[in-house]
Amino acid sequence: MRFLLSSLLLFLSITVGASPGAPKPPKDFVTPKGASFQLNGKPFAFVGANSYARWLPLLQRQDDIEATFKEMQGAGIKVLRTWGFNAINGSELADAKKSGLTYYQVWNSTEWVLNDGAQGLQRLDNIIETAGKYGIKVILAFTNNWVGYGGSELYINWIAGAGKTHDVFYSDPRIVASYRMSLTYLMHHSYIALERYVKTIVNRYKNSANVFAWELMNEARCLGDLPSSSACPRTGLLHDWYKQQAAFVRKLDPNHLITTGGEGHFFWKKSIGYWLNGQFISDYNFNGDAGEDFDGDLALDNIDFGTYHLYPQFWYGNLDTPDRTNFSIKSWGLDWIKAHADAAKKANKPVILEEFGVFGLQNKTEIYPEWVNIALDTKHGWIMPWQFGKLGLKEDGGNRLIKYADALIDGASPNDGFTYYKNQTAVWNVFTNAAKVQAARSK
Ligand SMILES: *[C@@H]1O[C@H](CO)[C@@H](O)[C@H](O)[C@H]1NC(C)=O
Ligand SMILES: *[C@@H]1O[C@H](CO)[C@@H](O)[C@H](O)[C@H]1NC(C)=O
Ligand SMILES: *[C@@H]1O[C@H](CO)[C@@H](O)[C@H](O)[C@H]1NC(C)=O
Ligand SMILES: *[C@@H]1O[C@H](CO)[C@@H](O)[C@H](O)[C@H]1NC(C)=O
Ligand SMILES: *[C@@H]1O[C@H](CO)[C@@H](O)[C@H](O)[C@H]1NC(C)=O
Repeated sequence: MRFLLSSLLLFLSITVGASPGAPKPPKDFVTPKGASFQLNGKPFAFVGANSYARWLPLLQRQDDIEATFKEMQGAGIKVLRTWGFNAINGSELADAKKSGLTYYQVWNSTEWVLNDGAQGLQRLDNIIETAGKYGIKVILAFTNNWVGYGGSELYINWIAGAGKTHDVFYSDPRIVASYRMSLTYLMHHSYIALERYVKTIVNRYKNSANVFAWELMNEARCLGDLPSSSACPRTGLLHDWYKQQAAFVRKLDPNHLITTGGEGHFFWKKSIGYWLNGQFISDYNFNGDAGEDFDGDLALDNIDFGTYHLYPQFWYGNLDTPDRTNFSIKSWGLDWIKAHADAAKKANKPVILEEFGVFGLQNKTEIYPEWVNIALDTKHGWIMPWQFGKLGLKEDGGNRLIKYADALIDGASPNDGFTYYKNQTAVWNVFTNAAKVQAARSK
């Protein structure tokens, strides 16, 4: 029975895929074509930007928002990635209301409440609309592997209870069902929270050409801020989760691209390890421990393109001592970029370097040009540095505590150590020049 059903599905998908009369995508929607993107019949090569939920959708002045998009436009940026989620818990609600903090969802001990009001999703509406005004398309992530502005830990705490590991997010049937539709679990309303949320967001923007793609989760891993159990690494758990959730989103919206939002960790039989003073340090990014299987996940039918992130300083602590290790931050990044370009070729799907960063202006100035150049050389030059910064913001006179450590200081958007601003000319020019190369490839 199982075999018959899957053969039938295979037959149907081949038939549909081969059909010459397949419907054309709506105007101004991006589509994949082999290992690249297309927009209205032309190649779509771009440089993008990240500005996470921690500031752009949290700004309260329209002139600041417009100024930010205008500066992105001036830098040649065509795609912006930001969070499509922003959840708070019940005890934060009173303060949020008082300070005007943006929030799209509230979780408290009894219920999950959507905020589609002026301080909620209407702010995201405005971001998506304003982006379009400046010729920029938006990637929206539905939830986060990490805590902060909501994320999976919130779902785990409320649905599965305290004392659980992070990976129950992918295995607890109530949480899994909470993301997609499952009648079995409609009995308890909090169980369908994420499903309701994803559905809300997709239905809200599914006709908008200002959306570039949906992203299932930012940086899904076996561990989050909670640890992982042994049920997750190297078991295909995350792969199966991607598979069912991508299918769920595809059913809601057949026209927009879908991606994982993953960091791009491989699960290779022969993994690559790194050594310090002759001692083995780690092969975490290649051995399946993170939970991803970049090649396998990219091959999924409903995953239209791959994403990967690049933070060697973060991932390998203080191991950047080229005389004693067989890698440097720079060389590690070059290898990582090449590995993903190879995977893209194998899968014949595009792959985006969706986040990358190093600490320190001098490190940025030295390292980014080489990383960006090699990405452009591989023809997988869709790069999205982490993260775009804006100076001269006027809200609250340029000084405001947003949440956690996120703040506007003297008119500058929050700086997490990776932020780059226009006055850092050398770094800025690396990206604006890359945008020119990409624009020339878009004809
Ligand atoms: C609610 O959020 C606050 C602030 O982030 C946090 O300190 C508190 O522990 C959270 N409460 C629950 C029940 O998650
Ligand atoms: C939960 O949040 C909703 C929406 O803000 C509110 O109406 C309700 O009273 C809250 N319940 C509790 C127990 O805090
Ligand atoms: C690092 O050095 C070890 C030990 O010499 C070697 O086995 C490994 O292949 C090297 N890795 C890379 C990426 O050069
Ligand atoms: C630049 O990178 C090196 C190597 O990781 C690091 O030691 C240094 O702290 C970085 N510089 C800054 C300013 O963060
Ligand atoms: C850029 O401007 C910010 C804010 O005014 C300032 O703190 C920083 O030093 C400037 N950086 C450079 C490289 O000029």
